[in-house]
Amino acid sequence: MGPEHPKIQNVVIIGAGNLATHLALALHKKRVNVVQVLNRSRQAGERLARRVHAQYKAGFSGAGFKADLFILAVSDSAIKEVAGQLGLKDQFLVHTSGSVSMETLSRASSNTGVFYPLQTFSKNKPVNFSKIPVCIEANTPGNEEKLLQLGRLISSRVLPLSSEQRKVLHLTAVFAGNFSSFMYTIAEDLLKKHDIPFSLLKPLIRQTAEAAKHEDVFSRQTGPAIREDSKIMDEHIEMLAGYEVYMDIYDLISKSIIKHKSRND
Ligand SMILES: NC(=O)c1ccc[n+]([C@@H]2O[C@H](COP(=O)([O-])OP(=O)(O)OC[C@H]3O[C@@H](n4cnc5c(N)ncnc54)[C@H](OP(=O)(O)O)[C@@H]3O)[C@@H](O)[C@H]2O)c1
Repeated sequence: MGPEHPKIQNVVIIGAGNLATHLALALHKKRVNVVQVLNRSRQAGERLARRVHAQYKAGFSGAGFKADLFILAVSDSAIKEVAGQLGLKDQFLVHTSGSVSMETLSRASSNTGVFYPLQTFSKNKPVNFSKIPVCIEANTPGNEEKLLQLGRLISSRVLPLSSEQRKVLHLTAVFAGNFSSFMYTIAEDLLKKHDIPFSLLKPLIRQTAEAAKHEDVFSRQTGPAIREDSKIMDEHIEMLAGYEVYMDIYDLISKSIIKHKSRND
């Protein structure tokens, strides 16, 4: 990197939730200085600050430290408001959301961007950041370069995406991650009602996730819908009497699989 794009060495983290915690820890581990943690609630803020040897600051106005980057990792609904309170002028400010546009930060600073790690984070669940794709966006090529460099410190996959592309990616993450997870919940619920251990499904779940590593996932689709086995599907729908929502989900997804198959034929 040329001198016109000096490296990001000092960061301020705003927020102390799931994402802020994992990102701060990953950066700290790679010797990026987290100089300050700002958070609404003192306890969470102080705890994170201690873990990364940073100073905790209550409130958001007048962020005291000089930093190369301000990372806003608060809930999506609070991004615009908190960004406005920071009182930055041209200091580099990014948010970490999959579904909020970069434009949301445009009144808060003249140097803005997005640093979105595509994974689901829970504070107490360790993650291996190097395997998590980081999608970045910046308002100038120089800022983009800085985020690429920072991202590459902690992840082996960093790629620029526009706000629109990132929103599509986020939408698909809801299908691939959140919805799949709810399918497991349905399975667990039904098994529990019949006193059958959920663990019996684990090898199948693992194998399904494994198959999704390949391109053209649909070519590996199995089950009654892809076989258009209406006898089994009717039987399953009947078994779901009393579970109206599960019945609707079963019916809708089965129809969707059959439609997708006819489109591909
Ligand atoms: N978790 C993930 O899996 C994940 C993945 C990728 C991207 N992200 C993005 O990361 C960002 C943070 O998400 P998260 O999951 O880490 O959220 P979280 O665990 O719920 O933490 C939310 C953080 O935002 C603060 N906050 C919430 N409302 C606020 C308000 N009105 N004013 C000031 N501070 C407020 C909270 O402060 P208090 O401690 O005071 O409540 C807390 O520090 C979001 O933009 C999200 O889209 C999350």
